[in-house]
Amino acid sequence: MPVVVHTRAELAGARAALTGTVAVVMTMGALHEGHETLLRAARDRADQVIVTVFVNPLQFGPNEDFDRYPRTLDVDLEVCRRAGADLVFAPSVADMYPGGEPAVRVDPGPLGTDLEGLSRPGFFHGVLTVVLKLLQLTRPDLAFFGEKDYQQLTLVRRMCRDLDVPVEVVGVPTVREPDGLALSSRNRYLSAVERTVALGLSRALRAGAEAAEAGRDAGAVLAAAHASFGAGGPGARLDYLVLTDPDLEPGPVRGPARLLVAAWVGDTRLIDNAPIRLDPAH
Ligand code: PAF
Repeated sequence: MPVVVHTRAELAGARAALTGTVAVVMTMGALHEGHETLLRAARDRADQVIVTVFVNPLQFGPNEDFDRYPRTLDVDLEVCRRAGADLVFAPSVADMYPGGEPAVRVDPGPLGTDLEGLSRPGFFHGVLTVVLKLLQLTRPDLAFFGEKDYQQLTLVRRMCRDLDVPVEVVGVPTVREPDGLALSSRNRYLSAVERTVALGLSRALRAGAEAAEAGRDAGAVLAAAHASFGAGGPGARLDYLVLTDPDLEPGPVRGPARLLVAAWVGDTRLIDNAPIRLDPAH
């Protein structure tokens, strides 16, 4: 079993005992196979792996699912054990924010108010603030994040670059169910019917990727993705479906690109994304 600590003081003691290359995998718990893949990727690169389990109130809006977000620490610890984690930090809200909600937060810049940030104001301020705090507390050499939350990964990379945070940020490809659904802790909110509807997201990404492979231009790739998303009938409400530069920079897209989608399925908001290679001739 990994060593489990709940307070900063305990973490400081346990961290001091770690030697060699240290990796961190930050999570909000409710661990699934996607997290396990992150842990194993960390295990492959580092001598010691720290997992953080913290449902961060700062990144939930007033009408979001903070209260109902699944909290499954016992199961999470079993996943950590199986994947070979050495240390688990599972603090309380009071331990992470002893002075109450922080007045000073990391500003994610313009990308923080686009895509996810448009629907979820303040979301990336909350994410980057807790990520920076957890990096300070765990002091890793490597930090692993899933590509499933692609905008988050991009912003964490940018924060570390812009603020000179001495850590290597490593992105890990999304893990999917055999039918294409991207693994997410929020999938457990879906009814059986909603789960079928949710396949519209990965289907749209696949259609976009196939159109790109067939040499179609950006407009045709997006049109194919939209058509495929809509083909599932009503039930999913599209928030955005965009084709963008792999670093999420504004401007024309050529060659390597990223297709990103977000949609509501019932009361559950799902996101997904995929790499796309456009013909550079377009
Ligand atoms: O991706 C998540 O689970 C969270 O946004 C993170 C990175 C653990 C910060 O709370």
